[in-house]
Amino acid sequence: MAGWTPSLGGKALLVLLSLLLTLLLGVGLPEGLTWLAGLLGLAETSVPRAVVLLYLAWVLGVAVPALPRGTVPVEGKHVLITGCDTGFGFALAKHLHAIGFTVFAGCLLKDKGGDGSTELQSMQSDRMNVFQLNVTSDEEVAQAVEFVKKNLQDPQRGLWGVVNNAGVSGFGDIEFASLDSYKEMADVNLWGTVRVTKAFLPLIRRAKGRVVNMASMLGRMAVPSRSCYCISKYGVEAFSDCLRQEMYRWGVKVAVIEPGNFVAATGILTRERIEIQADKLWKEASEIVQEDYGKDYFTRRVILMKSFVNSGLKDMSLVLNDITDALSSKFPYARYNPTETYWWVRLNIMSHLPAGIADWIYIH
Ligand SMILES: NC(=O)c1ccc[n+]([C@@H]2O[C@H](COP(=O)([O-])OP(=O)(O)OC[C@H]3O[C@@H](n4cnc5c(N)ncnc54)[C@H](OP(=O)(O)O)[C@@H]3O)[C@@H](O)[C@H]2O)c1
Ligand SMILES: *[C@@H]1O[C@H](CO)[C@@H](O)[C@H](O)[C@H]1NC(C)=O
Repeated sequence: MAGWTPSLGGKALLVLLSLLLTLLLGVGLPEGLTWLAGLLGLAETSVPRAVVLLYLAWVLGVAVPALPRGTVPVEGKHVLITGCDTGFGFALAKHLHAIGFTVFAGCLLKDKGGDGSTELQSMQSDRMNVFQLNVTSDEEVAQAVEFVKKNLQDPQRGLWGVVNNAGVSGFGDIEFASLDSYKEMADVNLWGTVRVTKAFLPLIRRAKGRVVNMASMLGRMAVPSRSCYCISKYGVEAFSDCLRQEMYRWGVKVAVIEPGNFVAATGILTRERIEIQADKLWKEASEIVQEDYGKDYFTRRVILMKSFVNSGLKDMSLVLNDITDALSSKFPYARYNPTETYWWVRLNIMSHLPAGIADWIYIH
């Protein structure tokens, strides 16, 4: 969240944490190492060396991700992307095309003449193939496989990459969200990813290629009011982890992208969509929920959601670069975290500290 200003309590907490860390590193670490050296029967002089080694390992850990790991040639490689009508998908189709990939751009609204598909088609490049794809439809996914096979120069060499990008977002406290809204979101975000991946794996395996799945930081940590979305993205993470493990023997590499807040860059959540959803949530909630939670609380939630529309990173290049790395690096990572510092720190605290402590820091 851009412009995050900690409260007085938050600031005090930050100071306390830094003090604790200093004490831990300054006193705790040498003490602990001396104790360990004694236990192992090593000389006390080995302790300073161990400190230097640990520090070196940490510096390497920070520096290594930025080191070049070599890239595969992209010429003649084909990549399919879902959800190319707007946002990351649309920008990625153009970006991958610009750096030399041949792109299969699946658009939800191609048959309806949507703006995104029209613009991609107007590039009139034989490396930009736009086609109709609704990831919730078995029939359209099967047609997509045929379309791709027909347009690959050599189907025996397979398809290099699939980027499962199509997604929808939404909000609503658990007691307000209908079971149908859970199902609808999972249909696109989770089952869409599973459906498309399964359909294209035979082609991907032939190319010893890549699967890149768009999850979210909300696929690894929860926030209130986002359970429908979190469930669908936690599911994408689980699916990707299993797939990565099963694909080692085929030489296929699987990466998950966990973007932070890029709402302002993509328009996945517009004020209009939030208002429509808010109306529906309130109307569908039971009387007892409406009474117990109250309109004031509900309105505050809606205002908070709206505040996200203009917050976050406005430039998508972090995400585009990470997906490009996942598709073209010789050694892609299993996870990418394109995000601003605030959410990176919060994600690590939420996913590493005991839940009670993490909740106490961020959720009141
Ligand atoms: N923006 C962020 O802050 C953020 C953060 C973390 C993760 N992500 C993830 O990034 C991915 C891309 O989202 P985005 O931010 O670029 O939002 P976006 O602009 O809304 O792009 C998502 C695209 O997927 C399309 N789509 C929706 N349902 C579909 C279906 N059934 N079949 C095929 N396509 C469908 C959407 O079409 P319509 O617009 O017509 O619905 C839209 O063009 C999503 O998986 C999202 O969860 C985004
Ligand atoms: C996508 O497919 C689902 C089910 O097959 C359907 O309910 C939905 O309306 C379709 N979306 C669009 C935009 O065509």
